[in-house]
Amino acid sequence: MKPVNIGILGLGTVGGGTVNVLNRNADEITRRAGREIRVTMASVRSLDKPRICDTSSIKLTTDSFEIINHPDIDVVVELIGGDTLALELVQKAITNGKHVVTANKALIAVHGNEVFAEAQRMGVTVAFEAAVAGGIPIIKAVREGLAGNRVQWLAGIINGTSNFILTEMRDKGRSFEDVLAEAQKLGYAEADPTFDVDGIDAAHKLTILASIAFGIPLQFDKAYIEGIRSLTTQDVTDAADLGFRLKLLGIAKHTDNGVELRVHPTLIPEKRLLANVDGVMNAILVNGDAVGPTLYYGAGAGADPTASAVVADLVDVVRALTTDPENRVPHLAFQADALNDTVILPIEEVSSAWFLRLQAQDQPNVLANVTKILGENAISIEAIVQKAPHQQGANVPIVILTHSVFEKAMNQALGKISKLPEIEPDITRIRVEYLGSD
Ligand code: NDP
Ligand code: HSE
Repeated sequence: MKPVNIGILGLGTVGGGTVNVLNRNADEITRRAGREIRVTMASVRSLDKPRICDTSSIKLTTDSFEIINHPDIDVVVELIGGDTLALELVQKAITNGKHVVTANKALIAVHGNEVFAEAQRMGVTVAFEAAVAGGIPIIKAVREGLAGNRVQWLAGIINGTSNFILTEMRDKGRSFEDVLAEAQKLGYAEADPTFDVDGIDAAHKLTILASIAFGIPLQFDKAYIEGIRSLTTQDVTDAADLGFRLKLLGIAKHTDNGVELRVHPTLIPEKRLLANVDGVMNAILVNGDAVGPTLYYGAGAGADPTASAVVADLVDVVRALTTDPENRVPHLAFQADALNDTVILPIEEVSSAWFLRLQAQDQPNVLANVTKILGENAISIEAIVQKAPHQQGANVPIVILTHSVFEKAMNQALGKISKLPEIEPDITRIRVEYLGSD
């Protein structure tokens, strides 16, 4: 059979890795796809830049439109990133009747609904396995492997850069900035690394996962997002003292009232497998009503792991080239006309347990005043520890673990506690998740 011609837009970390994996495993990939997959064209910003892959048999251009308009290109692989030029290119490629593979979670999470609608109209596929959790085949697992389940919730470490930062801070006491610079050097971080540390990248991925798990449209703008920038080594140490690990978690939960869609730093009991996912590794725990909890673990970023997912999508696309569009797996797992409009809950209506750290003056009645306010807001305390002051006469840290409570009640209580004259107004608050199978 004739080879399938691929045009890659962007030959950086993931684009270069994709060419390398396609070259290295060419025989195995052809045996699986049934046809040779050949990269004939690629676009870059600078033709002079050194590449991590062999480009000798690839026609390089700085004009990506040359590729998407080329009649010999069967599949376009978008690996530029961002949602401006990349969106324009993907839309034009679809209009030109080309299948698209992308690793671009920002593009899918923010513009996926329109992109998929247009792809369906044109009878082409837009595949995006690499957009979530790097090399872990989580899209395929949830979309196809768990198709018999009602997915109840999922929770994941889905940003490698922030997990790498938290791990290095805990294990080696390294500074946030120092570890972030290393993550950038290793090719893990986004072009704009604030996306990693502010939770935006994780929220892009969570938005995609929630859609394919629950059969709802992509709604990135409704996700609650908190990043890791404000976390300190003290938070990491306190977590360890209480038997928890501190992770940036993406959580999507289907409740009777609506869908929770939230990314935030979270304390997880250290005995949970997810709590022990370190460095750039990602893991996603998915709870289905039939199968129960299932865990998916692997490298969440980097050239070869992400290329593994891109190439798997290419093989899928090539295998489906002769399939009628209506017989292909739907982009968001559920048939496009069967997505439902379950509301995404505002964070005030989400309930979780909390870790609180207050700095209090060492005098009588302080604890009583704090616990009185918590009680008035129906917040039940699981544990409370008053620590020794760091130095003579200094304020004492009080650490409190609460049972699960609606965010609205916690906001009200902390509003009042922070106004107590004997409490410093800056209170540390971190959500706690036990990740049981309920
Ligand atoms: P890089 O910055 O390493 O690569 C981007 C590539 O796009 C570069 O080759 C760059 O060219 C090229 N490019 C940029 N602008 C243009 C333009 N105007 N015309 C043509 N080419 C252009 O990014 P990554 O490979 O890290 O990321 C690519 C995508 O994959 C992003 O969507 C990212 O979110 C996603 N992703 C990344 C992962 C990772 O581990 N890095 C993991 C999973 C997904 P030049 O090299 O000449 O500058
Ligand atoms: N910047 C992302 C991360 C790349 O660190 O997880 C993988 O999507």
